[in-house]
Amino acid sequence: MKLNTISITLSGLLLILGLNGCSNNEKINIENEVTPFSAKEKKETIEISKEVLKGFMKTFKPTLKAVLKDMEAPEAISMCTHNQSVNNYSKTLPKGISLRRITSKTRNENHIAKTELESKTLHEMDILKKPIIKKVNNNYFQFYKPLIVKQACLKCHGSIEQIGETSLSIIKKNYPNDKAIGYKTGDVRGVFLVDIIK
Ligand code: HEC
Repeated sequence: MKLNTISITLSGLLLILGLNGCSNNEKINIENEVTPFSAKEKKETIEISKEVLKGFMKTFKPTLKAVLKDMEAPEAISMCTHNQSVNNYSKTLPKGISLRRITSKTRNENHIAKTELESKTLHEMDILKKPIIKKVNNNYFQFYKPLIVKQACLKCHGSIEQIGETSLSIIKKNYPNDKAIGYKTGDVRGVFLVDIIK
């Protein structure tokens, strides 16, 4: 069955893609705490980050809709369904707040972890698969939201067979050092990372 023949509502789609916001009662983990959070800091970090991610999903919906119309199109494959949107949206956020995506197996090398803490958290996330918050120092807080691989992601991040020769050659041409294939549904592909610097 071809992806573009599946007709589902957009909210259903966001759910399938795992890009829907966090629900309010979702458990947020503080893994291997670096610097202890105060209750107020924890609450603020979670609240701000949820707003940031909610705002992103709102601006991202039209792009997603357009790309999903034709997943086989070269533009869809070379653009990915989200990169430009993440960067553009991040620029609209208040000073000190930003949104990015990082992963331990990059396609675009800009998405590498910038610090040891970030790469450590990515490894924790592989196992935990739930949002994690970190306090880097008294003025710097981070919220990590896992991006879980769904069926729809396999077209570009799955096995060589699932991606297919045509798409694979486009990917290889645009990303000669691509490491982002071979994923299975349920794997953590990477994270949305909200940085909050006060
Ligand atoms: C149509 C092809 C396509 C589909 C479908 C797709 N991706 Fe991607 N993905 C890409 C490309 C291309 C990039 C590199 C984008 C860039 O240059 O920033 C990428 C990058 C990413 C990144 C950033 C890290 C990196 O390696 O650069 C994450 C995280 C990611 N994809 C997750 C997902 C998830 C989760 C899904 C399914 C919900 C998905 N992708 C579906 C093509 C795709």
